[in-house]
Amino acid sequence: MIDPAVSALLAQAASGPHRPRMGLVAIPERDWIVLGDDQREKLVLKRRLLAERHGEVFAAMPGTEAAGEEVAQLLFDHLPRRFPTRYPRMGTMFAIAATSELVGMSSPSMHPLDLAGRLVPDDLCLVQEDAEGVPRLVAASLCFPSRWRLGEKLGSPLAEIHGPVPDYGKALAAPVDRFFGALADGRIVERWNWTIHDRPDLFQPQSPRRHAVPPERFADGLFLRNERQTLRRLPRSRAILFAIDTRVTRLGDVPPADARNLAAAIRHLPDGELAYKGIAAIAAPLGEWLAAR
Ligand code: HEM
Repeated sequence: MIDPAVSALLAQAASGPHRPRMGLVAIPERDWIVLGDDQREKLVLKRRLLAERHGEVFAAMPGTEAAGEEVAQLLFDHLPRRFPTRYPRMGTMFAIAATSELVGMSSPSMHPLDLAGRLVPDDLCLVQEDAEGVPRLVAASLCFPSRWRLGEKLGSPLAEIHGPVPDYGKALAAPVDRFFGALADGRIVERWNWTIHDRPDLFQPQSPRRHAVPPERFADGLFLRNERQTLRRLPRSRAILFAIDTRVTRLGDVPPADARNLAAAIRHLPDGELAYKGIAAIAAPLGEWLAAR
């Protein structure tokens, strides 16, 4: 029901005092893109969002086409090889079985990162170091934001993008910036996070961080939201691709052992983190309810 990596993340968060962490783990290329049963649902939703509110879910700085092209090319090579039945090759093109579409590399009317974002369930963000070596978000296909707006962050340094994240400046800004300078070609790393939302929607750009859900509605009015994030260097442009695969689980469907770890994790969170996750007002009853599952 929930990914074993999420169980491990919750077990770790339950095991002691909260501290902000990079939490990066190296993974083999075969695990770069993961496809779940919800692949079709996510791809269809992406197409709707891209058609109806393109400016909110896709944005790119000038000069990012080459890096976008590199991402599209990587996926064109990887997907039919790794998932031959889900993306069967058809001559110079391939099909997306989930949506019955045929796709080819050349789509001159579209930014190549926009094209790439339509191929996989993941959101795709490009980070590039500026002339001073400061990593900035320069382009993204972002259909499933977790309480942030692409338009407000495009072009900004990572340290600024993470402004609302408690203790990021103190604990993570410097190591993250160093990591972006040092990530070697061919190395892929993965990182998971967790939060709680009061709506199951994948597209959640707004940020009401005060869930007012009564205990009798915790099971179906609250949702565990996890992002599986991967990072890899694009060898030609030197940009870094940050891919985000979002999973949402109704709190009532979280298995009891994970729910108990979630309860302990919530007990360890400092006030700033509780507020950031939107659960400051309900932390005590929520912890009790989860622990009793
Ligand atoms: C090693 C790389 C990174 C680390 C360690 C990191 C760390 C974090 C942490 C700790 C949070 C708080 C939520 C959570 O627990 O995940 C967060 C939120 C966020 N991260 Fe990152 N991050 C990284 C890379 C990136 C990149 C490349 C982007 C570019 C799009 C990004 C964009 C964001 C945004 C937009 C938020 C939400 C901020 C808000 O609430 O306004 N992160 N990140």
